Amino acid sequence: MRDETSYRIIAPYYDWIMAHVDYDGWGRYLGRLWRKYGKEPRAILELGAGTCAFARREVYPAKAQVVYSDLSPYMLAQAHDVRVKPPRAAASAPGMPHSKEVSAPPTRVAANALNLPFRGPFSLCVMLYDAVNYLMAEDDFLRCLRECLRVLEPGGLFIFDITTESNSKRHFHQAVDYGELEGCTYFRESVYDVQARIQSNHFIFFVEGRKDNWRKVKESHQQRIYKVAKVRALAEKAGFQVEGVLDGFTFKPGRETSERVHFVLRKPG
Ligand SMILES: C[S@@+](CC[C@H](N)C(=O)[O-])C[C@H]1O[C@@H](n2cnc3c(N)ncnc32)[C@H](O)[C@@H]1O
Repeated sequence: MRDETSYRIIAPYYDWIMAHVDYDGWGRYLGRLWRKYGKEPRAILELGAGTCAFARREVYPAKAQVVYSDLSPYMLAQAHDVRVKPPRAAASAPGMPHSKEVSAPPTRVAANALNLPFRGPFSLCVMLYDAVNYLMAEDDFLRCLRECLRVLEPGGLFIFDITTESNSKRHFHQAVDYGELEGCTYFRESVYDVQARIQSNHFIFFVEGRKDNWRKVKESHQQRIYKVAKVRALAEKAGFQVEGVLDGFTFKPGRETSERVHFVLRKPG
């Protein structure tokens, strides 16, 4: 996906469509990864953060500076206010509300993972829920890896996951599902092209308008399905040390038969 118009129609419905995803469990796993392979991160850059699901959960350390970024400003715009604790001095200042927390939008920056508008250094970069599979060409994947290497501090980690061919073949080939949301019904048709190793997901939304008028809108997403060994090779080519290649949400080795494989890369330092 190269332009900022994709992930546009789906943006207001994304959290609803993904309501089945265990982001709390995902966040706990992420924490286990950085504790095992690194240290508590102080500056975090999330790429492809979408609607910033982790901003609404206590995933990242309270003291960490977190920047949520995504190619799609429409997705970032859906990130709702998060509860943040005010600095101690301000909280006890005269005139401050008694509540210990205030609402604030998370720090969001529309950014292409191929050309990051940051200097860093960050101690942790993450790109989750197969966002890297949207990098359709190997050269783009390499560019993204090099951009993360550039903005990370020495010893910093890049943690991401890929969806695999096994996942596509088992769950996303000639598969149709649909959902009824408030004011919207959607259908999704998924097709996996084995030769091209491309996963396509075509959405059709019927959106309720005024006076019972329904609008039909479409959005299609394509993902490149990389081999696990290819991703490892690209990471090494970019200059990362590959610390972990792990089977979905475990510490077992990730393989082609895994449905999701998590990568933990370290910037040498
Ligand atoms: C499957 S969604 C995952 C969103 C989020 N990480 C989550 O867990 O819900 C993939 C996200 O990757 C973003 N994306 C795709 N290509 C990108 C790129 N080149 N740079 C940054 N983000 C990108 C999309 O806009 C979309 O929000």
